[in-house]
Amino acid sequence: MRIDIITAIPELLTGPLDHSIISRAKKKGLAEIYIHNLRDYTFDKHHTIDDYPYSGGGGMVMMIEPIDLALADLKSKTGYDEIIYTSPDGEPFSQKLANRLSCLKNIIILCGHYKGVDQRVRDHLVTREISIGDYVLTGGELAAAVIVDAIVRLLPGAISDEESALTDSFQDNLLAPPLYTRPAEYKGWSVPEILLSGNDREIDNWKMEQSVERTRRLRPDLLQE
Ligand code: ADE
Repeated sequence: MRIDIITAIPELLTGPLDHSIISRAKKKGLAEIYIHNLRDYTFDKHHTIDDYPYSGGGGMVMMIEPIDLALADLKSKTGYDEIIYTSPDGEPFSQKLANRLSCLKNIIILCGHYKGVDQRVRDHLVTREISIGDYVLTGGELAAAVIVDAIVRLLPGAISDEESALTDSFQDNLLAPPLYTRPAEYKGWSVPEILLSGNDREIDNWKMEQSVERTRRLRPDLLQE
């Protein structure tokens, strides 16, 4: 899969996308991630990418031209399945959406900044808008990093233990069961007896019960879906 990210602050993305599973997926050739500086698509001395809103009021608006030029440049070399804009008023990101996006071949993520982009970008240039939650970040870069991380770890071969992506929280609308490792007892806090029993069927039943109980207690909304 190929992911191109267009941003005004590339430094915010290079670090988060260069470690652990993502870095391994890149080395294995499962994911190619390219970060493009929006300011490279400007012609003035200050590499301006924002301007005052016509409507007045506070905040700056990202201009359409650098974005259009950046997208046109990328699209002239590669075909893309989705052009995603990160914004707090986009469609809520979810495991389901991550699963769906991980099946695509090439995507672009455009990181929003300032108050947002000129509405014509949203109306004519992007194909999808995604929010990672009901709060406002300084820019879309951290949202893009979250989206890329959630997608790349799902690519076949990205996680060594194939099973582990399938048993993540949310994959079946249930939270994952609790985990324990050695020692079996620490400061008098013991691992549940059943996990030491060696009875695989009973352990599987226990895990399912725990998942359902945790979901009912912490995220009852997931059980309604
Ligand atoms: N940009 C600013 N806040 C955001 C959010 N919550 N999700 C996606 N992009 C954003």
